[in-house]
Amino acid sequence: MIFKLTPEEQQTFDEILRPLLNTKKVNDMKKFIQHGTISTYDHCYEVAKGCLHFNRKYKMGADEAVLLKAAILHDFYLYDWHDADRGKHNWHGYIHAERARRNAVRHFDVEDEVQMAIYSHMWPLNLTRVPRTKEGWILCMVDKYVSFYETVFCRKSE
Ligand SMILES: [Fe+2]
Ligand SMILES: [Fe+2]
Repeated sequence: MIFKLTPEEQQTFDEILRPLLNTKKVNDMKKFIQHGTISTYDHCYEVAKGCLHFNRKYKMGADEAVLLKAAILHDFYLYDWHDADRGKHNWHGYIHAERARRNAVRHFDVEDEVQMAIYSHMWPLNLTRVPRTKEGWILCMVDKYVSFYETVFCRKSE
């Protein structure tokens, strides 16, 4: 756990995300490993907490419903990327944001603003997909922060 939410932040978090967190599809992300020993579900959960935390702490004024929904679904690609393209997973970094966006629309019919933030979260790897909204920028930065932390500090023991 990287971020600790205040009781008020936790209440907002639960109110906005409970409907999504109660679905089987979102819980399917528990089956896949994201970094080290962390599941994709736990990664997205931590990124969502971090987005809310930074938005409040730095008074960024992002729409919290858009931000939280995009954060919990930003890696909703639903496959094990370690197995993709016969273990090479060269393309995962480039294609998974669009795959996650499509799954988010298909299963939850999310708004355009949520889709845009999911789609651009891998910038600058996807060089042309520059975030265009406040929510997109916050998600893009917090995802990198959390991914770095998980990769360095949550490694599998050899
Ligand atoms: Fe991602
Ligand atoms: Fe991510």
